[in-house]
Amino acid sequence: MIVNNLSKISVNELIDCFLKAFEGYYVKMPSDKNYYKERWKAASVDLNFSYGMFDKGKLVGFIIHAIDKRFGKLIAFNTGTGVLPEYRRKGIVHSIYDYALRDLWMNGVKSSTLEVIRKNKKAIRCYEKVGFSISKKYKCYSGTIKIEKSDRINIKELALKSIDWSKLPYSGLMGIVASQYHQTSKAEDHRKWIALHIPVTLSSTNYFNGNDKALNVVMKLIKTTESRNKN
Ligand SMILES: CC(C)(COP(=O)(O)OP(=O)(O)OC[C@H]1O[C@@H](n2cnc3c(N)ncnc32)[C@H](O)[C@@H]1OP(=O)(O)O)[C@@H](O)C(=O)NCCC(=O)NCCS
Repeated sequence: MIVNNLSKISVNELIDCFLKAFEGYYVKMPSDKNYYKERWKAASVDLNFSYGMFDKGKLVGFIIHAIDKRFGKLIAFNTGTGVLPEYRRKGIVHSIYDYALRDLWMNGVKSSTLEVIRKNKKAIRCYEKVGFSISKKYKCYSGTIKIEKSDRINIKELALKSIDWSKLPYSGLMGIVASQYHQTSKAEDHRKWIALHIPVTLSSTNYFNGNDKALNVVMKLIKTTESRNKN
């Protein structure tokens, strides 16, 4: 068996393997092939940086990657891992990742990330064996989004530098708040307290849970001032 990228196989062959690997999965996967073609296109899936295990030319396992930039650096996001049932417990995912991470690195993609359903202990163990660790936990909800026809939403990419980090979203007040404090990021403001000199202890747990302690303190202060002014 050999590992290779998926640039030379047809998308239909990949989808066939995907559907077999995801049979009986926690979430019922759509069987319409166009769904995957559109979804992967929208997600920037790149088959040059997606990889598979081939047994005598037949695809038996895969890791599908979308490639994009985050904070100016290329990152690979795993949008699907699967191994045909009869090929499982042979370390195939491990072998694909061994090849993939090296190939990605050599091509300038130095970060790799993925999401996995918490119940999927098999997959979590498998990813941990490769070297991944859990950095965030999400709550996922499903439902129908109701949008008025008149609602127009324009989504556009903004350069980090063009954002006015000093305007608070709730009150619109101007203040200087440390906007990012993750150790590897390029923080715009390295201070660990806000202009009013309220000390805020920062931790990676808060960072990964999306809890901006600096902003919380400012909001608390604004609310206290507002209620004091009313009385
Ligand atoms: C999850 C999946 C990709 C694992 O593939 P695999 O080829 O069996 O994985 P590996 O052989 O590389 O397993 C590596 C480790 O994962 C864990 N693991 C894999 N299958 C397991 C199982 N059935 N029970 C317990 N642990 C398991 C083990 O720690 C294993 O190492 P070990 O065999 O040395 O004990 C495969 O089961 C699959 O395709 N499942 C359906 C689709 C899916 O869930 N994809 C992941 C979505 S995020």
